[in-house]
Amino acid sequence: MKLSLKLSPPSIQQKTCLMLGVYEGGHLTPAAKEVDKATKGLISKLLAEGRMLGKVGEYLPLFHLANTGFEHILLIGCGKQTQMSPTGFRKIMVGACKSLSATQTKSVTCYLTQLDVGDKPLAWKVRQLTEAAYEGLYCFDLFKTEKKSAPLKEFILALPDSGSKIPKACEQALAEGLAIANGAILTKNLANTPSNICTPTFIAEQAKALGKQYASVKVKILNEDEMRKLGMGAILAVSQGSAEQAKLICLEYKGGPKSQAPVALVGKGITFDTGGNSLKTPDNMVGMKYDMCGAATVIGTIKAAAELKLPINVVGIIPTVENMPGGSAYKPEDILTSLSGLTIEVISTDAEGRLILCDALTYCERFKPDVVIDIATLTGAVVIALGVHATGLLTNHEPLAKDLLKAGLESNDRAWQLPLWDEYQEQIKSPFADIANTGGRSAGTITAACFLSRFTKKFHWAHLDVAGTAAIMGGTSERLATGRPVPMLTQFLIDRVKS
Ligand code: BES
Ligand code: MN
Ligand code: ZN
Repeated sequence: MKLSLKLSPPSIQQKTCLMLGVYEGGHLTPAAKEVDKATKGLISKLLAEGRMLGKVGEYLPLFHLANTGFEHILLIGCGKQTQMSPTGFRKIMVGACKSLSATQTKSVTCYLTQLDVGDKPLAWKVRQLTEAAYEGLYCFDLFKTEKKSAPLKEFILALPDSGSKIPKACEQALAEGLAIANGAILTKNLANTPSNICTPTFIAEQAKALGKQYASVKVKILNEDEMRKLGMGAILAVSQGSAEQAKLICLEYKGGPKSQAPVALVGKGITFDTGGNSLKTPDNMVGMKYDMCGAATVIGTIKAAAELKLPINVVGIIPTVENMPGGSAYKPEDILTSLSGLTIEVISTDAEGRLILCDALTYCERFKPDVVIDIATLTGAVVIALGVHATGLLTNHEPLAKDLLKAGLESNDRAWQLPLWDEYQEQIKSPFADIANTGGRSAGTITAACFLSRFTKKFHWAHLDVAGTAAIMGGTSERLATGRPVPMLTQFLIDRVKS
C-alpha cells in the first residue's frame, strides 16, 4: 500500500472510497458538505432519516451512487464537534480503516484531516492519521492457511486545498508517521510470532537483519559463553532451565556525532514466560509469548530512528531468554551473583524480567549513555494500577520523566508516572543476599522498579512497564500486539534532536 498526501477536493476523487466525517447533530465536515451538495443532499437526507446519528463508532458505507459518479463513500461518525480528544481522533481512524477490509476497497481518499481536534495543527493530524491507517489495516496472518488478501493499493490523505503546495510540516509529519508505523509493524510482527519460532536466536537474527538493512545500524550478539565470562549470573540463571540459548543483543544506531553520548534502550526479551519453577497457572500463561515486547520495541524504535536518519546516537541492549521450569532450572531461594556484583536471592522464578534486565542495565554502563530507558512487560500489577491505556513510568531523574510524559502525550501513546520513593526499597530486603527479587503483593510495579534502581545508580534512567499496553492479552480472539511504546520513544528521540 502506498500512503501519500494530496491537495484535492472530493469532486475529483470519485473513483476512490471517500472517507468523510459526520458529526453528531447533523454537522458535516467541509468535504462531506461538498459531497452532500453534489449528491443533491443524500448525506443530509440519510441523517434526517436517522440512518446514521454521527456517533463515534458508526461507519456507513455507500456504493455506486447512481447519477453522481461517486463509487464508494464511507461516512464516519465523529461524535460531538467540540469534544474530539486526541485519542478519540486516532480511534475513529483506526476503526474506519478496519472497516475497509470488509468491503474489498482498493483505493481511498481520507478527509478526516478536516476534523477539529482541540488546537492540534494539521501536521499533527497527518501523522496520527498515517499511523492509525497502518494500525487499522494491520493483520497478522503468517500462520493462517487462508490469507486475508489486502486489496488496498492506494491511500490518500487529502489536505485542504488552500494554497497550491503541500506544507513542509505535513511532509515531515508524513515521513515520521510512516517511520513510526513501519517500526511498530516490525515490533508487532515479532511480538505476535509464537515462541516456538520466536526464540532468543530468532530475535538475534531479526536484529542482524536490521543491521543489514541500514548501514547506520551495527549489531553484536553475545552468546552464553561470552556472558559467563563477563559474569552475567542473573541472565544465565533464568536461562538455565531452557533448551534455547540466551542471547544479549547489542544494536548501535549511529546518526549523531561520535562524541555524543547515546540514548540507551534496554528491552526485556523473555520469549516465553512459563514462570519457571514458580509455575504460572494455565490461564496466566496464555499471553506470555508477548513477554518479549520490550525487546521488540527496541528493535522497532531503532528501525524508525534509522528510517528517519535522526542525527542522534542510540544503543539498544536486549537480553533475551526463555523462562522454563524443570530439573535444570533455577529455583526459589537460589542466590545469584549479578554482573554488578550484587547478590540476589530468588524468591520467585516468575520475577525473571528484572533478573535479565539488571545484568543488561549494568552492561549499559560501558556505552557511557546520557540516559537509559528500559522497556519491559514487567508486572501484572501495572495492569491493575493503570489498565491498558497508560504505560507505567518510574525514574531516578525527574527531567527524563517530564520528557517521556510529554512525548507520550504528543504521540498519543501515553505513560503515567508512579513514585519510586526510598520507603519502598524496604520491601526487597533479603536475609541472605544483598536483595530479593520480589517485594510482596503490595506496590508490585514499584518494588520491581526499586529492584532495577539498584543497578542504575550510575546514570539517568527511566523504566517503562508496558505489561498493560504492549499487547492485548485478555479475551482469546482479541489477542494482538499494539506496537506501543514505539510512538512514544520515537517522539522522545525526535524531541531530543530538536532541543
Ligand atoms: N511477564 C510477567 C508480567 C506480566 C503479567 C506481563 C501479565 C503481562 C501480563 C512477569 O515476568 C511476572 O511474572 N511478574 C510477576 C512478578 C511477581 C512474581 C513478583 C507478576 O506480575 O505476577
Ligand atoms: Mn514472570
Ligand atoms: Zn515475565
